Amino acid sequence: MTERDAADSERLANAINGITSALDRFYRFEGPDLAALHRQQWVAELGVALPEEGRGLVAVVRTLNEIVIPNGLRNGAPGFSGWVTTSPTTSGVIAALAASVAGSQRWWVHPFNYLETVGLEWLRTLLGLGADMQGTFTSGGSAANLVALGAARQHAFEREGIDVAREGLPAGATWRIYASTEVHHVVTRAAGVLGLGRRSVRGIAIDDRQRIDVRALIEALDEDRAKGIRPIAIVATAGTVNTGAIDPIAELADIAEDRRIWLHVDGAYGAFGVLDERVAPLFRGMERADSVAADPHKWLAAPLGCGATFVRDRARLGRAFTLEPAEYLEGSTAGGVVQSPFDDFGELYHDFNIEQSAQSRGVTVWAILTEIGRTGLRDRVKRHLDFARHLERRVVAEPRLELVAPATLSICCFRYRSNNEDASNSLNERIGTRLRAETRFVPSTTIVAGRYAIRPCFINPRTTIDDVDGLVEAVLRIGESEVAARSVQHV
Ligand SMILES: Cc1ncc(COP(=O)(O)O)c(C=O)c1O
Repeated sequence: MTERDAADSERLANAINGITSALDRFYRFEGPDLAALHRQQWVAELGVALPEEGRGLVAVVRTLNEIVIPNGLRNGAPGFSGWVTTSPTTSGVIAALAASVAGSQRWWVHPFNYLETVGLEWLRTLLGLGADMQGTFTSGGSAANLVALGAARQHAFEREGIDVAREGLPAGATWRIYASTEVHHVVTRAAGVLGLGRRSVRGIAIDDRQRIDVRALIEALDEDRAKGIRPIAIVATAGTVNTGAIDPIAELADIAEDRRIWLHVDGAYGAFGVLDERVAPLFRGMERADSVAADPHKWLAAPLGCGATFVRDRARLGRAFTLEPAEYLEGSTAGGVVQSPFDDFGELYHDFNIEQSAQSRGVTVWAILTEIGRTGLRDRVKRHLDFARHLERRVVAEPRLELVAPATLSICCFRYRSNNEDASNSLNERIGTRLRAETRFVPSTTIVAGRYAIRPCFINPRTTIDDVDGLVEAVLRIGESEVAARSVQHV
């Protein structure tokens, strides 16, 4: 028997100090992103056989410093506007580090458990949801939507006296979830995971601003009702990932209320847009929803792995997801004098979603909002909406560019204009590829109503207006050179 464990647990500060300059350097995002070009090198360094004998902490620190961190993911670089997630800011990082050391489990009696409650309460307040909306942190938007739809499923069948979490779905029944064709695919997957079936999500047509067509929804609801199909939920997206469109939530809330159907709002990306008074009216009705998903690891720039779901009547969430009592879990004498964590599990978040063990996430939300407050977050959201509007104005003013979808939130879809509609998609696809390969401006691309578009999404706290202008200039330069190259080919 060896006396001591092979893993170090004493030189934490030393080890952290050993990587701080590499992290600071990384955070400056200097020079081009060479991770893909250097792939062979780092794969060769990292892809070694399982070491029989450990190489020690020093080797770990060295490899992190020299290989892993410098080739890390640069989605926090100021010119990166490709995703709805970004690299976290400092307070979130140190909070996550603190949690991994001192709050390595979100339950039991300790401040990290309590900060789950505080973080959720602050998010609820930010989003303008009522006090009866209680939440749970999740690993992200996928799990946030899954948990919300799990509550919707519970609700739909409880009305018929069926505890679906316990009994399973009734044989012979059919059911539907209604969402626009622009809904995020995690909603469809959630339906699959919940046993409702991916096909149970009925995609409703959209209008010319990519919002759910309310008349088409009503027709679908009527048609399904006539066939005896049970409605499980209507999903409103508050900020689609494609264009940032916001479904008419208030109208959907009226329909859901009239027909007694669960209304879920997927605000994973866009819900924090409610902080900008210019678009706040578009979120009207979100406060009437039965459940809302919103992700701190998107606009809040919390470390990845942090989504949140709010549900009216969390007891229903509990019935959908409770960990049933088990001998091995007991020991709590909650209600008596709490002298040790074993006497009280704290707030039982593992009863409200799909994970038992989970990291403490509330501390990161608490840290970010303690640092910047509501005002700091509101300023960020407004700045990003300004960026999208600035870009839209430039596109509209520039004859070589064309707007594909207007900016509702912080996404603006546009393309380089081409005389030849058929060639336009491939031209803009090439522009997207060359932007990523040749410049520091990294938007994503998408297809809106069959039209290939360049799609920057501004949620990155490090992005500045110069990065927005830089993107426009880069698209013009590359577009021009592509068009010139093609006309030479045709000569
Ligand atoms: C509207 C919307 N819902 C859900 C998701 C899924 O979130 P996550 O990637 O955190 O699982 C996203 C992510 O882009 C999203 O934009």
